[in-house]
Amino acid sequence: MIVYFNNDFKLINEVSLSPFDRGFLFADGVYESIRTYNRKLFRYEDHLERLKRSLKETRIDFDNFNSIKNIIYDIIKKNNIEKESLVYLQITRGSVQQRTHSFPMEKTTPTLFISVKEFKEDNEEQSKGVKVILQEDVRWLRCDIKSTSLLPVVLANQKASEEDAAEAILVRDGMITEGTHTNFFAVKDETVFTAPKSRLILDGITRKVVLEFCEKFKMDFKEEFIDKDDLKNFTEFFITSTTKELTPVTMIDYWQINNGEPGKITKALQSVFKKVTEDHY
Ligand code: PDD
Repeated sequence: MIVYFNNDFKLINEVSLSPFDRGFLFADGVYESIRTYNRKLFRYEDHLERLKRSLKETRIDFDNFNSIKNIIYDIIKKNNIEKESLVYLQITRGSVQQRTHSFPMEKTTPTLFISVKEFKEDNEEQSKGVKVILQEDVRWLRCDIKSTSLLPVVLANQKASEEDAAEAILVRDGMITEGTHTNFFAVKDETVFTAPKSRLILDGITRKVVLEFCEKFKMDFKEEFIDKDDLKNFTEFFITSTTKELTPVTMIDYWQINNGEPGKITKALQSVFKKVTEDHY
């Protein structure tokens, strides 16, 4: 596998990273996951904008964005990926001389790492829907930053996989925030609900795309937190992300929704999403 590491394309086993990289020491870094449709990066500008915002909020001084898009296409080519790709891009504050919590005295060069892998969506999950479990949201209060500091969601997602669920949906103070790596949507009386943009959720690009569809097709939607105890008053649920696209949720813990069938609005939005991505060049 060929990756991009700092200023070079390298075979993955030729990459070496100092244990004094602050990404290693403190998870002091940010990232993006981007995918292609028809071999073209989907919503690249939105991902770039979010990356810039994450860097600004974490005060990581990186501004060499111009060549990133071409580098990504070059890695895809160098790895001979003929189908769709999933791109992982990470920037850390860089390598330091010694471990101190505050930023180092010396100026560091941020570490840039980009890898790609072939990506295949899970058609079965998307047509049949998935089970999710509810877990307490024990993350920090800046979930709007796409930080690599992900231990709370690693643990929640592990719990989900041990319970044969595709995702853990996080609950903070009785309110649903989002999934460990997805945004969460619910439908009631033909109105689509999702948590509002705030410091408690990541401003997902797929979430944005879905809300754009709702606007375009004059579907009612509300950006409001859903109370966990109110879940049973909703009739459809789905999760969104770069990797899950729009995946119906047909079971929450032990509650089977709508006899395990994906809902009508969910399916309508899924088909618009499919059309838009199929036509993406
Ligand atoms: N995760 N919420 C969280 C906490 C996420 O980590 C993600 C994305 C999303 C959905 O965002 P988007 O639609 O822009 O992918 C919501 C990516 C896929 C990841 O962790 O790799």
